[in-house]
Amino acid sequence: MIPVNDNFRFLEKSYLFSEVGRRIREFKRINPEKEIIRMDIGDVTRPLFPCVIESMKEALEDMSEEATFKGYGPEQGYDFLREAITEEDYVKRGINISSDEIFVGDGAKSDLGNLGEIFSKDCRIGLMNPSYPAYYDDNVIDGRIRITESGKRLNLINLECLPENNFIPSLPREHVDIIYLCFPNNPTGAAITRDELKKWVDYALNQGSLIIYDSAYESFVREGDKARSIFEIEEADKVAMEVRSFSKTAGFTGVRCGYTVVPKNLTGKFANNETVSLNSLWLRRQTTKFNGVSYITQKGAFALYSKEGRRCIEENSDYYLRNARLIGATLSEQGFEVSGAVNSPYVWARPKDSDKDSWSLFQELLEKCNISVTPGIGFGKSGAGYIRLTGFNSYENTRRAMEILQSKNPGL
Ligand code: MLT
Repeated sequence: MIPVNDNFRFLEKSYLFSEVGRRIREFKRINPEKEIIRMDIGDVTRPLFPCVIESMKEALEDMSEEATFKGYGPEQGYDFLREAITEEDYVKRGINISSDEIFVGDGAKSDLGNLGEIFSKDCRIGLMNPSYPAYYDDNVIDGRIRITESGKRLNLINLECLPENNFIPSLPREHVDIIYLCFPNNPTGAAITRDELKKWVDYALNQGSLIIYDSAYESFVREGDKARSIFEIEEADKVAMEVRSFSKTAGFTGVRCGYTVVPKNLTGKFANNETVSLNSLWLRRQTTKFNGVSYITQKGAFALYSKEGRRCIEENSDYYLRNARLIGATLSEQGFEVSGAVNSPYVWARPKDSDKDSWSLFQELLEKCNISVTPGIGFGKSGAGYIRLTGFNSYENTRRAMEILQSKNPGL
């Protein structure tokens, strides 16, 4: 028999959202008449913007004519999109990024997983706890986070995010090579001020660390002192990459498109101490293993950088934020301790006077209210006792779910 990657032995049996989906399907199988209001995985419900559809239709027309047909595109994305991203997301906001630092990909999840290939297996990893589960799983699969037979996790430094620190972790006391930061945060919804983020950039500059900054939820930032991009901090281009996605901002969860910024100032070293540019390493990886995002998809994403596209993103994010705020307010009334929903579509909550575990809360909400949520423990041990709800359903469904919650008063 073929030997396989042993690291898979140390993962949970299923990925968090697969397990949530399995339990929902099982509930539906037993209760086919029940309609579940989904507030678990952060999947959007509103359709693509008309300007995106128009642009995709034009791209399809291009594909139908010999003169404008496109075959393989550049692996790192078409210039028209890379230039629009550079201009609108960075240069116009006073950030000095150039288009050859932008790599268009098929979404944040793939880039986050694939980036690991350019780093040594010996890197020590700092993860916010709780955090998006893919960061941990990716590093276990790669063999960077190693789990001993007695269950000890080597090379992992937990950056605790608790109510006591407003879910913004303290700087590690030891050396960490790669730090994953996500703001606005999934799952806690916390956003970070520029002053707080500067401390992380300073830490990375002092320690020679790299920050992988996940800003998939940047369009939800509403408070002026909160950062949308790590590159708002001076010198961050010496220590950080930024991963972004059009999934939540523009309804691309099914279309698949995002991008990663890999500044040319970032360097690493091979085992023989030879210095190498991370930008060129990532380009080398992408050109070998990726054939780029489809022309039609990139044309769709390009429309997001028009005036109308910008307006739609703002309006779309406001719509989901309004849902999140309704969820937050209702849960507070119902005796939950609540955070998030201000600069984030996520609501992070736990019942005030209860020591129920996250999966029990998940099950009770599913059975009593027919609402599906994500159990906080799935994001790490500091998520124990929490649940995460998303504002990504329709306003009507969100309101209905909250009415059910109020009327059934599940007494969690
Ligand atoms: C989530 O629910 O945390 C996200 O939808 C997962 C993802 O973006 O892959």
